[in-house]
Amino acid sequence: MTDIAIIGGTGALALLPEEGVSSTVHTTAYGDPSGPVFEWSVAGSRCLFLPRHGLDGTIPPHRVNYRANIQVLKDMCAERVVGINAVGGICAAACPGHLALPDQMIDYTWGREHTFFDATDVAVTHIEFDPPIAPALHARLVYQAGKLGLSCLAGGVYGVTQGPRLETAAEIDRLERDGCDLVGMTAMPEASLAKEAGLDYAVCALVVNHAAGRAPGDAGIHDQMERSIEQAMRQAGRLLEAILSD
Ligand code: HPA
Repeated sequence: MTDIAIIGGTGALALLPEEGVSSTVHTTAYGDPSGPVFEWSVAGSRCLFLPRHGLDGTIPPHRVNYRANIQVLKDMCAERVVGINAVGGICAAACPGHLALPDQMIDYTWGREHTFFDATDVAVTHIEFDPPIAPALHARLVYQAGKLGLSCLAGGVYGVTQGPRLETAAEIDRLERDGCDLVGMTAMPEASLAKEAGLDYAVCALVVNHAAGRAPGDAGIHDQMERSIEQAMRQAGRLLEAILSD
């Protein structure tokens, strides 16, 4: 098929192929993206990869330059973006180590540069943000995950919190009452900026822990993350390989 750009979260550099990858450094009208853009090809199609938290993983979710990240991919002629996002599971079906492919979002973030339509000397622009996840790209992910037999929650609501701290159990109860199945810190304003830029955007979430107050037993969130991230990343790698060559 055609080109796909990946915005990879924590640990996702492991998804890059071992050979045939080049990287270039860019800047944009909105400042510097999080890192170089890696590029390689699969079956004649170009794939791009941008590390959301920087090469050394030092940019926290609230300090990511989401506008520059989306703009650099647009400048490089990407049309479809898959965000790899670590999340906590709120609903019972979102188990650590599994993938989740949400199709809705609630934005709880604040203070992030969240729009390209910020000028005061042009007509005001309001994009439609529903559906927040591009249906065709989401459907490709769901189809390939099913074909591969991955442990995956298809659909669901991703609540995006400000971070970088994790939530209280009461905050997770509130998110659940709001309808959230997953909680993470990075899909917004990434998704809405992609929409403003005219790019298709979908999320491949790695469930790396039970959300605060939801773990059976007394395992801490960081212990759960350590145990689950590798399993979830392995599944994400298989899924991306499949959609990059479908
Ligand atoms: N909460 C918010 N963000 C996260 C979590 C969580 O439990 N796990 C991974 N990212």
